[in-house]
Amino acid sequence: MPVLALVGGQWGDEGKGKVIDSLAANANMVVRYAGGDNAGHTTVNPYGTFRLHLIPSGIFYPDVRCVIGNGVVVNPAVLLREIAELRQHGVETHNLVVSDRAHLIMPYHTLLDKLEEQRRGPGAIGTTQRGIGPAFVDKVARTGLRVGDLLDGAVFRRRLESTMEQKNALLTSLYAHSPLSVDDVYSQYMDYGAQLHAHIADTLPLIHDAMQRGDTIMMEGAQGALLDTDFGTYPYVTSSSPLAASAALGSGIGPTCIDRVIGVFKAYATRVGSGPMPTELKDDTGEFIREKAGEYGATTGRPRRCGWFDSVAGKFSVRINGMTEAVLTHLDIFDGFESVKICTGYRIDGVLTTEFPTMVEMVERCQPVYEELPGWSECTEHISHFSQLPTNARGYVDALSSLLGCRVSFVSLGPRREQIIAVAPSPFTHS
Ligand code: IMO
Ligand code: MG
Repeated sequence: MPVLALVGGQWGDEGKGKVIDSLAANANMVVRYAGGDNAGHTTVNPYGTFRLHLIPSGIFYPDVRCVIGNGVVVNPAVLLREIAELRQHGVETHNLVVSDRAHLIMPYHTLLDKLEEQRRGPGAIGTTQRGIGPAFVDKVARTGLRVGDLLDGAVFRRRLESTMEQKNALLTSLYAHSPLSVDDVYSQYMDYGAQLHAHIADTLPLIHDAMQRGDTIMMEGAQGALLDTDFGTYPYVTSSSPLAASAALGSGIGPTCIDRVIGVFKAYATRVGSGPMPTELKDDTGEFIREKAGEYGATTGRPRRCGWFDSVAGKFSVRINGMTEAVLTHLDIFDGFESVKICTGYRIDGVLTTEFPTMVEMVERCQPVYEELPGWSECTEHISHFSQLPTNARGYVDALSSLLGCRVSFVSLGPRREQIIAVAPSPFTHS
């Protein structure tokens, strides 16, 4: 113990990678448990600036074991590229292990993701087009191929032939696309398997032995609560659960083994892709936040939609994750703001509510109700103690904490590893 789950509290891109990179100095293991390379976790550390899509953000500590759990869908081409990029920058990757139970993203998944987005036309979800949805479809439909299959050519070939018969029928008849060659996919994936061989294992004993030793394990969430398949703004969601409960399933531990659930929130809100976002600012303030914070997708480069902090959605996220505490990132972006707003309720057709609605059509009609707080003019990026923060910045953190109903334990004031401060004494205070 302890096992900590770090989860995205909003629509993704909350700075989970940075927080993990800052706190993993005190960890023994970091586990990715959901999503795939739709994630884009940016870290700025002494090795350089990295945007990791699959490899856990603990990889920069040579003694931290990094696990890609069974709940992740793995594109081996992306994984190999990421390993190569890290090695080029002098980062050791021998501590990386990929679960043999994790499902593979295949070339027809990425293709079908693109084709299906085109077919949806104006109703497109705005996916990252990394094949995530189609790969999870195959997992649940029992037609997926797993990382462990890469190690047995005959088994891989048999499963591939059966699945590709169906995929090629779909590609040619529904999408009028040319079929993919089984032979090409087979030889390409056998090559990936040969290259990844040393990293593939049953990760269950590793994780359970670590728990038994009392190691500190961080579960690195991908995406955010409002992109959850069940609880997000369906159908504008992703295809796996980013929630803390999924950290148990996606790594093979029981839910009682998770000691702390740390929600990562940005000091404002962003969303990339389609779907409603009640506090979106389509004005100069939204544009200002985007440019100041560099809010462009780490995976797709798309401009992110920016807006004020939505505490209705935030409180919902605290609940469905069972968060024990929160980390607030990007607070420095508000340096120099005369005032800052927090959404504390919605009006839907004139009726006030503080509950996040179920139906996306209702979320689309939400008119945010704001509380306005005084801003601060000081630059906060070099501050190393919470008590040194401007009074109004502390007031903002306190207000969020009470609206969320969740203690804020860390505040991040910039992209670099050391730019994080503890709000209250914590075993993870950065030294
Ligand atoms: P991290 O881990 C932000 C969004 C996509 C799209 C929707 C569905 O960096 O926080 P998908 O490709 O998953 O089928 O797309 O989900 N999305 C993310 N948005 N951060 C992410 O990950 C995301 N992963 C998926 O933009 O709206
Ligand atoms: Mg991201």
